[in-house]
Amino acid sequence: MDTYARFPLELAKGKGVHVWDSQGDRYLDCVAGIAVCTLGHSDRVMKRALCRQLGKLQHVSNLYRIPEQEQLAAAITARSCTDRVFFCNSGAEANEAAIKLARKHGHVARGITQPLILTAQASFHGRTLAAVTATGQPKYHQGFEPMVQGFRYFPYNDIAAFEALLADCEAQGPAVAAVLIEPIQGEGGVIPGDPAFFKRLRQLCDEKQILLIFDEVQIGVGRSGRMWGYETLGVEPDAITLAKGLGGGVPIGALAVKSAVDHFRPGEHASTFGGNPLACRAGLTVLREIDRRSLLPHVEQMGQLLRLLLEELVRRHPHRLEGCRGWGLLQGLVLRPEAPTAPEIVKAAMAQGLLLVPAGPQVVRFVPPLVIQPRHLRKAVKRLEKALLSLA
Ligand SMILES: Cc1ncc(COP(=O)(O)O)c(C=O)c1O
Repeated sequence: MDTYARFPLELAKGKGVHVWDSQGDRYLDCVAGIAVCTLGHSDRVMKRALCRQLGKLQHVSNLYRIPEQEQLAAAITARSCTDRVFFCNSGAEANEAAIKLARKHGHVARGITQPLILTAQASFHGRTLAAVTATGQPKYHQGFEPMVQGFRYFPYNDIAAFEALLADCEAQGPAVAAVLIEPIQGEGGVIPGDPAFFKRLRQLCDEKQILLIFDEVQIGVGRSGRMWGYETLGVEPDAITLAKGLGGGVPIGALAVKSAVDHFRPGEHASTFGGNPLACRAGLTVLREIDRRSLLPHVEQMGQLLRLLLEELVRRHPHRLEGCRGWGLLQGLVLRPEAPTAPEIVKAAMAQGLLLVPAGPQVVRFVPPLVIQPRHLRKAVKRLEKALLSLA
């Protein structure tokens, strides 16, 4: 169906940080399937691990124990503040699971019959009905009303507005079950969370036993230069949702929670494909390779270099570029209103052999594979500059 406004580009193969179109032209890939291909394309270790897994077992359903799923859950909980994991297949589905858990938390922990979930304006949580309702951007709601009941929105990083909304919701007693929030807003324009805002948010949630859920779908699994986005904020959530980079290109999603808020009982939530042996093998390989190749310090260094290169670019083009922002290898180049739009620049960059992705109309986003090297980043920013000049 016609749900995507696609670029006129057909990609046929990839290796590392490069992809080739069906004409044989090569592109430097700073999109990575939108923050998905953690280890790049056609990675040798991933290929071997998945081929081996296919030769052993691919799918069995959650009627039975799945060793690869148990190992991946252990790998996630060992590396995070969480204790228990539910597996699904995408970010939206992970957030759906989080929303159901939040409502149950509202019922059992706070005694609320019609629990509310608070989310941020300009957020992005996915396209299924509850996840898109959680997404605080009216443009994604239009045409699909009525939206799901029980969501209210606050401006991101604005603690006074959050406290006012919370007071309004709780004027007659407990009403709020959870806050669902991105540690850094990705699709909404690459807007980093403010540690002071998040610290106070954590306190307020603690005081009222409100569940604090971080949507780590885009920033989680190493993209920030730390394993999880919450580490940059210095605040531990009660639950995180994951997808994108976790499978490195094999679809997988996860809701990971602290055991104190693991309210699901057998039969209350499920997914046929969720956590199958193949997807979990991919997740295990991604986590192991992040450790084995020391990708976290690498991402931190590459993020600093990319930031430096982008800041230099901003200085050379002050009339078109406003600045840059982000964490690690999620960086956004902010355009001035009078500059060409982000989709126009992304299209011009494509003509220079560089793949980028917009984050809204005024931000060009870099989310390359975590294995990207300094020479690639230098080449990417050079090509972006050529693209900018070609639009003069
Ligand atoms: C923060 C965040 N949450 C959720 C999603 C939805 O993930 P999916 O497209 O896998 O459903 C996205 C996708 O861009 C995202 O960036």
